[in-house]
Amino acid sequence: MSNKMLIICYSQSGNTHRVAVEIQRQTQGELCQIYPWQPYPMTYWKLLSQVKKEIYDGYCPRLLPVSCNLQDYDVIFVGTPNWCGTMAPPVAAFLSQNQLSGKNILPFCTHGGGGSGHIEEDIRKICGDAKVCRIFSTIGKGGVHLTQDIGEWLRDNGINC
Ligand SMILES: Cc1cc2nc3c(=O)[nH]c(=O)nc-3n(C[C@H](O)[C@H](O)[C@H](O)COP(=O)(O)O)c2cc1C
Repeated sequence: MSNKMLIICYSQSGNTHRVAVEIQRQTQGELCQIYPWQPYPMTYWKLLSQVKKEIYDGYCPRLLPVSCNLQDYDVIFVGTPNWCGTMAPPVAAFLSQNQLSGKNILPFCTHGGGGSGHIEEDIRKICGDAKVCRIFSTIGKGGVHLTQDIGEWLRDNGINC
């Protein structure tokens, strides 16, 4: 695989961003965060109710422009929190709006105990012509074995750091 790697992620409360930073550290890739135009509510119950509705409706929130050019990368890590079993709507919006055919997508997520849900499958549905690898998932911020766990996942997917 080419060594041009991009790590894109959305993170509401910092956990997924922490994992993204560790992937960046190990791969020396570029890190680029996704931000919705309209920030989500800070109150958990308001956030949950809005997110449930957005997922149910298949709504893609408007995003702030990103600083990276996807055409420059062959390997793209895509990070998201598990929201109601799937990826956060800003990540779905980003994947839907960008041309990713032929890319190697390595999904990763953080969760609150429910694992990766159907995030990998849902990413495959959106990124039809991309090669989507096995998702890396970890609870919360990832714990003390995060560095090692990510290293193994990268090696399993042929990423030589
Ligand atoms: C609206 C919402 C829905 C969530 N749904 C799930 C879920 O279905 N399963 C799960 O394990 N965790 C769920 N969580 C917990 C998050 O996935 C977890 O806290 C994650 O690490 C947050 O990542 P972040 O800090 O990058 O935003 C949910 C959190 C929120 C705010």
